[in-house]
Amino acid sequence: MARETRAGEKRVALVPELVTKLTGLGYQVAVEPGAGLPALISDEEYAAAGAVLDARAFGDADAVVSVQPLAIDRIRGLRPGAATISFLPTAEEREVVAALRYAGVTSFAMELVPRISRAQPMDALTSQALVSGYRGVVVAAEMLPRFFPLTMTAAGTVPPAQVVVLGAGVAGLQAIATARRLGAVVQAYDVRAASAEEIRSLGAEAIDLGLEPLEGASGYARVMTEDRAALQMQRLAPYVAAADALITTAAVPGRPAPLLVSRAMVEQMRPGSVVVDLAAESGGNVAGVVAGEVVRIGSAQVWGGADVPSQMPGPASRLYAQNIVSLVTLMTADGAFAPDFGDEIVAGCCVTHGGAIRAQ
Ligand code: NAI
Repeated sequence: MARETRAGEKRVALVPELVTKLTGLGYQVAVEPGAGLPALISDEEYAAAGAVLDARAFGDADAVVSVQPLAIDRIRGLRPGAATISFLPTAEEREVVAALRYAGVTSFAMELVPRISRAQPMDALTSQALVSGYRGVVVAAEMLPRFFPLTMTAAGTVPPAQVVVLGAGVAGLQAIATARRLGAVVQAYDVRAASAEEIRSLGAEAIDLGLEPLEGASGYARVMTEDRAALQMQRLAPYVAAADALITTAAVPGRPAPLLVSRAMVEQMRPGSVVVDLAAESGGNVAGVVAGEVVRIGSAQVWGGADVPSQMPGPASRLYAQNIVSLVTLMTADGAFAPDFGDEIVAGCCVTHGGAIRAQ
């Protein structure tokens, strides 16, 4: 397992509890010394679980697992035929992909694991979105200067906070569930047809804007036309204005995040209200958001998420490691790392192999 070197990355690709799963498959597990420290995991814990703490093992490894793609100078240190498994957003990491190809490394991208039932244990997009959705609500609850739950005391009753969630995919549904657990009244909106029922099943109100669903063939959202975006904003405006906390999670795969909330909409929110934009790193759902910062728009505080799963590095690493171990298990035959490219999961997430690029 590699030590993460990118700024802001505190997760790791393997946790001590899962080392034995890999040794049980027949692997020797080497961990770079200090790799777990950002996630509060010591070298001793890895060693106690059966891993070898050895930075030099890197160059001999059959497979190197990490969260972020390896740095180019590290890729050059791998042997031809070695494999890497990590997140690898190919459109943004063209130089890394070129280096992997040139080095003859077989690389797998976690975000390309097909979203089929059999691949659910390997679905790192889902596991990390789950962490983000939870974290977003906890941040909103911390920033909001009022109670989330209905609070009844002898001195009177305080009404619950009103939370609006935009985008009800994995992160949004987790945000809804978390806000409900904290006692808030929750309304949510998504463009997918199936989302209203999912929202209601968590005890929230599905906002009906009277607009057509916007769904592509794969079950993901489609990009909005300008007219649709304007109409959606106009109809969402009263819900946003009435919210104490607005949490946005909307995304369209392979595209910048859709803009759902204008500055004017935020300016209509009451003093003390908060906005948490979990899509800030990919452009933001809220106009004026800055990833990694809190900005003030009108009377609202707007929090732009950056490296959100890294803000809970322990559980995020554990879930990611489970995804990694599941994928490595699929790629193991007779105690050896032997990915079967006839398998649609293996083929679907392979980016480079044998000096060629297989997925862009
Ligand atoms: P995502 O991260 O790509 O997007 C988040 C949400 O934003 C989606 O629900 C999307 O519909 C919504 N959205 C996009 N544009 C919007 C707009 N203009 N206004 C409001 N909302 C907008 O999606 P995520 O969370 O990865 O899940 C997307 C789909 O994939 C869902 O149908 C989910 O059930 C499905 N899925 C399937 C899995 C499986 O079969 N293994 C695993 C995880 C998700």
